[in-house]
Amino acid sequence: NKKAFIFDLDGVIVDTAKYHFLAWQKIAKSLNINFTHEHNELLKGVSRVRSLDIILELGNVQASQDDKDKWLIQKNEDYLTYLVDMDESEILPGVFKILQLLKEKNQAIALGSASKNARPILEKTGILSYFDVIVDGNDVTNAKPDPEVFLKAAQLLQIDPKNAIVFEDSVAGVQAANVGEMVSVGIGEKTILHEAQYIFKDFTVIDESFIEKLIN
Ligand code: BG6
Ligand code: MG
Repeated sequence: NKKAFIFDLDGVIVDTAKYHFLAWQKIAKSLNINFTHEHNELLKGVSRVRSLDIILELGNVQASQDDKDKWLIQKNEDYLTYLVDMDESEILPGVFKILQLLKEKNQAIALGSASKNARPILEKTGILSYFDVIVDGNDVTNAKPDPEVFLKAAQLLQIDPKNAIVFEDSVAGVQAANVGEMVSVGIGEKTILHEAQYIFKDFTVIDESFIEKLIN
């Protein structure tokens, strides 16, 4: 039985959520907008453009398109500085083991991320070759919670969305998986990801029997 296992990137495979937060916080500070960790949950899984709009809404700031474009570039340039020294040590606990297990069991593996920086991150961390298919922010027009990114991945793998399992750390991503009628697995806190079908605090607590259950 072959299933599609679709992984989100930021906050699921690598701990980049903290870098996105730091880079956005810099922009928010420069605009005198109070931007907390709680607010940051709203940005997880959300596209870069939409993230900026959410921050500006939080601060009730109106801005021209030119200014917005400038801040989007600044945010990404700052974010990229955190990625310069990135290596396999940034892969979150248990991820490597799960990828290996899925390979051994001959399952299809995809990336379904909103990020436009996905490929270099997979390259730097040395896990690019695990992925049969990569769908990222460069390939989609509708951001999560729209299921486009995951549907596209399943389609490329030629696997029915009902036979796809999505690992997500964001509320928007869990919702996208649910809308796409896929199995949603939340990676993170139960209080935040309660809409997910299954929730685990991280991959270290996902065992082989759970994966077996999903496959069969
Ligand atoms: C998502 C992150 O994976 O990608 C968001 O959770 C981020 O925080 C989004 O804004 C877009 O990423 P990037 O790298 O294209 O700015
Ligand atoms: Mg994420």
